[in-house]
Amino acid sequence: MKKIFITRKIPEIGINMLKEKDYEVDICPVEKVPSQSKLMGHLKEKPYDAIISLLTDKIDASIFRAAPNAKIVANYATGYNNIDLKDAKKRGIVVTNTPGVSSLAVAEHTMALMLALTTRLIEGDKFVVAGKFKGWAPDNFIGTDLSGKTVGIVGVGNIGGRVAYMAHHGFGSKIIYTDVVQNTKIESDCGAQRFSDLNELLKVADIVSLHVPLLESTHHLINESHLKLMKPTAFLINTSRGPVVDEAALVRALESKTIAGAGLDVFEFEPKLAKGLRKLPNVVLTPHIASARESARRDMAVLVAQDIIDFFEGREPKNKVV
Ligand code: GLV
Repeated sequence: MKKIFITRKIPEIGINMLKEKDYEVDICPVEKVPSQSKLMGHLKEKPYDAIISLLTDKIDASIFRAAPNAKIVANYATGYNNIDLKDAKKRGIVVTNTPGVSSLAVAEHTMALMLALTTRLIEGDKFVVAGKFKGWAPDNFIGTDLSGKTVGIVGVGNIGGRVAYMAHHGFGSKIIYTDVVQNTKIESDCGAQRFSDLNELLKVADIVSLHVPLLESTHHLINESHLKLMKPTAFLINTSRGPVVDEAALVRALESKTIAGAGLDVFEFEPKLAKGLRKLPNVVLTPHIASARESARRDMAVLVAQDIIDFFEGREPKNKVV
């Protein structure tokens, strides 16, 4: 009987798929992110054949050593920067992820962050809730139109492509993008223009939205000098991974009004925030919830379970990363 260890509770549908195969499923008995040593301790309790991990788990050599029987790690996330792929590959461990199924949710959340900034929605909400609204005024919280603005998308995969579509067709935004590969679909669907140089995109975009995976090459992709290239009226949106942005540099850029604002769902040292970020009026911050939809989370649970089942039944898992 295959033994599966899940590092936190995921939707029942995935757990049931594994149980229907008569696999033994154990869920790490924790309320919050388990420490590395806690995970290792639990993994040593039984000879687990597979691990379902979350983006908050650092899956590296110490975890692989604690679970020497585990031949597959199914990451319950699109991103897999939390897994040491090189080490997994060296040990012949298969790693899978959950691409595609949360892209609609993340794209909608990206649009929500954009609109929250352009409409000054959160500032207005705080003002009303604080009892400060004393009547309509012509100059109360003047915002910006999204319509007609230039949205610069950095990385046009599943999520970036959807953001392009929503911004263009929903709000009449002009779309420009950078990516290592050309995306002819968003060029024909949205009239998107590709920029080969990120710096050039940053100079002209009114909103810059980040949708790249976290890799060595994308760590601090947006740093102090990049922020200086942006327009003082521009907004930066990040729903990808926190370390893609140098967060301390971003705080300085926001404090000095080098850029107008930022909408962040992810943070460089999550769940910690860079000093000063929380106090800024020109930010909208959400707690890494862009994919937090029942449908997305359910589909993610199905993907991790199906990939494990396929692996044990001798088929190639559909979402194999290595
Ligand atoms: C969420 O951040 C994910 O990678 O699925």
